[in-house]
Amino acid sequence: MLRLAIFISGRGSNMTAIINACKRGEIQAEVVNVISNKQDAKGLEIAKKNGLDTLALNPNSFENNEAYEKHILEILIKENIDIVCLAGYMKLLGPTILNRFNGRVINIHPSLLPSFKGLNAQKQALDYGVKFSGCTAHIVTNKLDDGPILLQEVVPVYDSDTEDLLSGRILKKEHIVYPKAINLLVHRILNEEKV
Ligand code: GRF
Repeated sequence: MLRLAIFISGRGSNMTAIINACKRGEIQAEVVNVISNKQDAKGLEIAKKNGLDTLALNPNSFENNEAYEKHILEILIKENIDIVCLAGYMKLLGPTILNRFNGRVINIHPSLLPSFKGLNAQKQALDYGVKFSGCTAHIVTNKLDDGPILLQEVVPVYDSDTEDLLSGRILKKEHIVYPKAINLLVHRILNEEKV
């Protein structure tokens, strides 16, 4: 079984979807630990209730970002992590983790990339006036919300939409798309290992 680490910063609904998909066998991998850059991330409690190892680190308590990431990297290596799943992790990953986990860091973003990168993607979509939006699961590279796309799902945008309504509609799709995309990556890695 491949081993997953999930990075979060907040409520952790995508994290929960991943944990449940692993339990149901929809992702052929196991979640090993959940790491947060916020002590008060709600998702940490959910992870604990699911019996997972959790770790909350304050990046500001490290000398610099490299030291922060090195600390995390050591844990990932010690725990034999195969894939890092970013699930609402509101911090850019630097080269320390990305170089070591090249092609094995995955993210979900609430827009149809390459449109509406960065923060408040749902508001960006509403402000632009697009008629469809959605979510994108992609491999993480050193460019923000860039990198090869694994899966996308589309939702309609209605004239009556608010940011909350659209976000909720997209989030429902995220919870379906993200586990599927992780499972694709799992199988891609397993097939590479066979060669
Ligand atoms: C999601 O909308 C995700 O696409 C974005 O951050 C949000 C995280 O939500 N990257 P949650 O913590 O998974 O509920």
